[in-house]
Amino acid sequence: MRAAAFAELQAVVAFGWAAEFFQDSPKELREAWRTLVAEEKQHYEAIMKRMQELGIDPAGRPVSARIWESLKSCETAEKFARYMANSEERGRQAGIRFVSEISGADPTTAGIFAKIVEDELDHMALVARFYPTGSQGK
Ligand SMILES: [Fe+2]
Ligand SMILES: [Fe+2]
Repeated sequence: MRAAAFAELQAVVAFGWAAEFFQDSPKELREAWRTLVAEEKQHYEAIMKRMQELGIDPAGRPVSARIWESLKSCETAEKFARYMANSEERGRQAGIRFVSEISGADPTTAGIFAKIVEDELDHMALVARFYPTGSQGK
C-alpha cells in the first residue's frame, strides 16, 4: 500500500508538472491533466487514510531524482502521455492483483483499490483520445 500511495503522489506531481511544462500541447490535454491531478490526489488521500485506519506507518519515501529524470527525458507531450499511461497500466495490474488477494480478508481496502483501478482506465484513455495515430513520434 505504501508503494501504491507513493505512485499516486508521483502521478500528482507528474501531471501537475506536465500541465505547466508542455505549453505546446493541446489546451484540452493540459486541462485533462489538471483534472487528473485532482483525481490522483484523491487516490493518494484514500490510500493514506486507509493506511492510517489500519495503523500502517506511511514512512514517507522521498520523491526520487529518478522520477524527474524520467519526466524530463520526455521531449514531447505525446511521449510524456505514453510514459504515464505505461506506468498507470503497471500500477493498474498491481492493483488488480492486490484487490483479488485481499478482497476476502479486507473488503474495505479492496473497494478503495477497485475504484482506483477503474479510474486509471479513464486516465490511460487520454492517450488514445489525443494521440489516436499510434506510434508516430514515439
Ligand atoms: Fe491514480
Ligand atoms: Fe492515474
